[in-house]
Amino acid sequence: MNVAVVGAQWGDEGKGKVVDLLAPNFSLVARYQGGPNAGHTVVFGGRSHALQHIPSGIFHPHVRNLVGAGTLIDPDRILEEIAALRAQGIALEGHLVLSPRSHVILPCHRALDAAREGRLGGSAIGTTKKGIGPAYSSKAERWGLRLADLADAEEVERQVAQLLATGVGDLLASVGAEPLDAKDVAARARGWWRDLGPLVGDVTGELHRAIAAGQPILFEGAQGTMLDVDHGTYPFVTSSNTIAGGIPASLGIAPRAVERVVGVVKAYTTRVGAGPFPTEDTGALGDRLREAGREYGTVTGRPRRCGWFDAVAGRYAVRLNGLDALAVTKFDVLSGLPTVKIAVAYELDGERLDTVPPTVREYARAVPVYEELPGWNEPLTGVTSLAALPKNARAYLDRFTELAECPIGLLSVGPDRTATIIPDGSLLEPFRGALR
Ligand code: IMP
Repeated sequence: MNVAVVGAQWGDEGKGKVVDLLAPNFSLVARYQGGPNAGHTVVFGGRSHALQHIPSGIFHPHVRNLVGAGTLIDPDRILEEIAALRAQGIALEGHLVLSPRSHVILPCHRALDAAREGRLGGSAIGTTKKGIGPAYSSKAERWGLRLADLADAEEVERQVAQLLATGVGDLLASVGAEPLDAKDVAARARGWWRDLGPLVGDVTGELHRAIAAGQPILFEGAQGTMLDVDHGTYPFVTSSNTIAGGIPASLGIAPRAVERVVGVVKAYTTRVGAGPFPTEDTGALGDRLREAGREYGTVTGRPRRCGWFDAVAGRYAVRLNGLDALAVTKFDVLSGLPTVKIAVAYELDGERLDTVPPTVREYARAVPVYEELPGWNEPLTGVTSLAALPKNARAYLDRFTELAECPIGLLSVGPDRTATIIPDGSLLEPFRGALR
């Protein structure tokens, strides 16, 4: 069975932990969008491992990790990531395959990202400044370089000279960014290809063969549904399709190959960067969630904005992705609160709204309508079944799934692999072995 794991909120839901847990039962783990803006954290053996481009199946030696055509690769950054993994004794040859069609993030993309954000001032998106928007723009505008292009440094020089001739140099100069030099990029390309070339392979062909042979594939999403470029809180989004619909397009496979979709959600909500967030709490509750949940960005270290679970956004994610199950993370963080709330609807200009409005102007004015439930004091560490949860915790979860209109497939009560509950009847029951 092929399973996709996607973020069902604004990113940082804990997808890395879920993918790492499920990975042993799959032959292939494939990333389909995003690039070094992602920061997937996997905790095991008392250590925390941060990944950016590389799929979270990399810690399992028999799993092949594929990075698909719809992703972006920053050669310098991925080489740092590779060096850190090698230093921990993790072999990459034969375990990591990069698509020749992935687009390359060049230094000019990073410069443009930072410069635009600076100029936007108070209206900035709050990007990770990794060059994501400009690199996806250059792909859409057809002046990007792809990984396969790096194999031929002379061709790189010719392509960069051509893009300079078509105005990219002026664009860089207009924002005060360092000029792009064709010879310099060509020289870098030689080094990049020397180090990355051995990892480049036919990702799409490998997926086609695996699908034909019935080998199970795990698709790994980055960021989250509400950051999807088409369906998220545009323009406060990332520049790719984060939803499950992005998988077939980015990997070059049939939509029907995505057989099941699991949406990862926190038991509350967080967001980094600017943009509407109806349940945000800028007071004591927000601080309490941020500290208890260690809500600081993996990539940028920024404090995350925090608030109650938003079942309206949750339902929207269930429908957009066709979610079969929710993986609820950080449930332990809610212990010790006298009451817990869930947003069940919004109010906008005196009217009740049951879904996410299309513009951020409207969304910024949407006021959550809350349902309040009694809290629980017991810590959840060591709890291994839903039946063993405190009564109020169980009641909260029941209401949570009812409002989100999706069953719980997995519940995480701590960062470690072992702090995970897979309920009876969950579609993820075959993965219980990984919890020990
Ligand atoms: P970009 O992807 O760097 O262009 O950033 C666009 C928006 O997406 C910003 O609000 C970022 O904070 C957010 N974002 C990008 N990647 C992640 C992620 O992995 N987790 C959470 N938010 C992200």
